[in-house]
Amino acid sequence: MPQLAVIVASTRPGRAGPAIADWFLARAKDHGELDAGLVDLAEVNLPFLDEPEHPSRGHYLHPHTRRWSAIVASTDAFALVLPEYNGGLPAPLKNALDFLYEEWAHKPVGLVSYGMGSAGKHAAGMAEQVVTALRMRPAPTRVAVPLRECFGGEAVHPNEAMESAAHGMLDELTSMTGATREEGSGVR
Ligand SMILES: Cc1cc2nc3c(=O)[nH]c(=O)nc-3n(C[C@H](O)[C@H](O)[C@H](O)COP(=O)(O)O)c2cc1C
Repeated sequence: MPQLAVIVASTRPGRAGPAIADWFLARAKDHGELDAGLVDLAEVNLPFLDEPEHPSRGHYLHPHTRRWSAIVASTDAFALVLPEYNGGLPAPLKNALDFLYEEWAHKPVGLVSYGMGSAGKHAAGMAEQVVTALRMRPAPTRVAVPLRECFGGEAVHPNEAMESAAHGMLDELTSMTGATREEGSGVR
């Protein structure tokens, strides 16, 4: 079964990210077509990009980069669970994306955004620009979580739009992952 990493993209104490990622992970497990697990950027604990060479060369000096590279290289698809900070994507996610290059290429990615005003839609738009530059393939359906309406401090209270978008995105990621395998070397 293809592997899906649900990435918690906020790292600050008291963050909402893990609760929202847990909700999406539960939907991915119910969906049942992808082998889904959480990857928490707070635990990955990358410093700001500190590699001397361009990531596209794949010559990594630091053990933290090699560990991150191994996680991303062994994953078939991603769901980025990202908050909106000041109208954009969170810095830890941008940094984690910038650390690598080939490891992301051609892989499907779903954007699960959240925020106060616009459910993180500006953050999702910026993230889509970045993942497209990395030659990833964004799922057409985005999930947007309006925190005021659907988050109670600890628990997510999903609305119908969230549920239906999550299901649609998981369908898309599943079929896009199949396409990735066909496009690949045929080794897998
Ligand atoms: C530094 C910062 C900037 C924020 N900027 C926005 C924003 O531009 N738009 C928005 O809808 N919410 C904004 N918020 C509210 C966040 O979406 C909300 O606090 C959310 O819980 C942040 O995700 P996190 O708890 O996982 O860190 C901001 C929060 C922080 C901490």
